[in-house]
Amino acid sequence: MSEQSGSGTGHGTPPIQIGLLGLGVVGSGAYKVLTDNADAIEQKVGAPVVVKKIAVRNLNKERLVSVDRSLLTDNPDEVLDDPDIAIVCELIGGVHPAKEFVLKALRNGKSVVSANKELIAKDGHDAMVEAAQRNLDFMFEGSVGGGIPIIQAMKSALAGNAIHEVKGIVNGTTNYILTRMTREGAELADVLRDAQAKGYAEADPTNDVEGFDAQYKIAILSSIAFTSRVQPSDVYTEGIMRIGAHDIEHAREMGYVVKLLAIGQRVGDDAVQVRVHPALVPASHPLASTSGPYNAILVRGDAVGDVMFYGQGAGMLATGSAVVGDIIEVCRNLRHHATGRIACTCFEHRRALPMDTVVTRYYVRMYVTDRPGTLAAIAGVFGRHQVSIESVRATAADRAEAIWVTHRVQEANMRRALKELGSLPEVYSVENWLRVEE
Ligand SMILES: NC(=O)c1ccc[n+]([C@@H]2O[C@H](COP(=O)([O-])OP(=O)(O)OC[C@H]3O[C@@H](n4cnc5c(N)ncnc54)[C@H](OP(=O)(O)O)[C@@H]3O)[C@@H](O)[C@H]2O)c1
Repeated sequence: MSEQSGSGTGHGTPPIQIGLLGLGVVGSGAYKVLTDNADAIEQKVGAPVVVKKIAVRNLNKERLVSVDRSLLTDNPDEVLDDPDIAIVCELIGGVHPAKEFVLKALRNGKSVVSANKELIAKDGHDAMVEAAQRNLDFMFEGSVGGGIPIIQAMKSALAGNAIHEVKGIVNGTTNYILTRMTREGAELADVLRDAQAKGYAEADPTNDVEGFDAQYKIAILSSIAFTSRVQPSDVYTEGIMRIGAHDIEHAREMGYVVKLLAIGQRVGDDAVQVRVHPALVPASHPLASTSGPYNAILVRGDAVGDVMFYGQGAGMLATGSAVVGDIIEVCRNLRHHATGRIACTCFEHRRALPMDTVVTRYYVRMYVTDRPGTLAAIAGVFGRHQVSIESVRATAADRAEAIWVTHRVQEANMRRALKELGSLPEVYSVENWLRVEE
């Protein structure tokens, strides 16, 4: 390829200067990609792209990448107020002070790239409004799916579609835990402890195992997919803590695997249903084979049909790739005086429907009395609440166990049936119940 190809060579063109806020896992990844691939990036942009300053908390900390120490500062204003810096990358995390830094950067005329799912899901609107008013870019590809290019894809290549559903595995930690439980027949607590020791799970795993990380991500994806703001509080959220080795084994015997799914669905013209919970997925479904720390996201558009995105959902270089993709896009816009082309896409209002209105299938595992009439009594309760049964398996080891799979039914009916079953003399305990997704 000739030197003049792509956006044109950057030789002689003044550099576009970048400021980083944060040099942790993602900041280091972005820095490494920018420096390792500097020549190709210069060709693609048509100007050199250089990191001028990096704000961190602790100047003495050892870094994951080799970096010229003179670039580091512990004063974020040295990035935010520097008139030479055109793009600020917020790679700190959390809402505060990240939000204040992002707003200050925009007010100082700088475009912003962020990977901060919590900030974008909870408070991204303020930054988008600020960016739009100033014709600046605010991009956040790294916030969902690590290296998977899902946000730019939905905002650009798939923009011609009405998207009906976005569904996927968006948390690598829980997927790693469930994958190991499936392969080893192990209990969750044991796998979690080992995952923490190996660095696959945080010391405080709450955000991952309770589903909050996935909640932020599906709120962001649904907002883009359905062109309507979905707040984290709109997302029904259940984590994986009550999944037992027993459930995974029963699921396997019935041809399913257990996954933590994040699901956003458009319902009619004016509503959405958005949820995060573990579910039984048919072993033949593409999401079922997404193993370990990988993520997969399925988008269903009215024109394109189903499109599946798959890749590393986190990590230094994968997320660095997404951040640098955004930086390159902003640089191209800067070169052509076209920043602010893609503003906030939430231009409609759709209400979020409560979980009780979801219609799906269910798996229920219970310990029951081992005598004639038990299954009929339980089926009677299900029937009273319009829950029809697809299959029932009864096992009699040391305790009689019954595993039910229902046909599609509204969640409100299912919950009423489960409540009544809790006081039925034939049922010792309802051990677990999970949704079954197609
Ligand atoms: N890790 C991933 O795989 C991943 C994937 C996708 C998205 N993300 C998102 O990317 C963001 C960064 O995550 P991370 O894993 O890179 O976090 P991290 O490793 O904890 O790094 C955070 C960085 O921010 C710096 N920092 C914190 N508070 C600061 C302040 N007030 N002023 C200046 N610098 C400050 C820290 O400085 P010191 O180093 O001096 O402490 C550190 O360099 C988060 O929003 C996260 O959700 C992470």
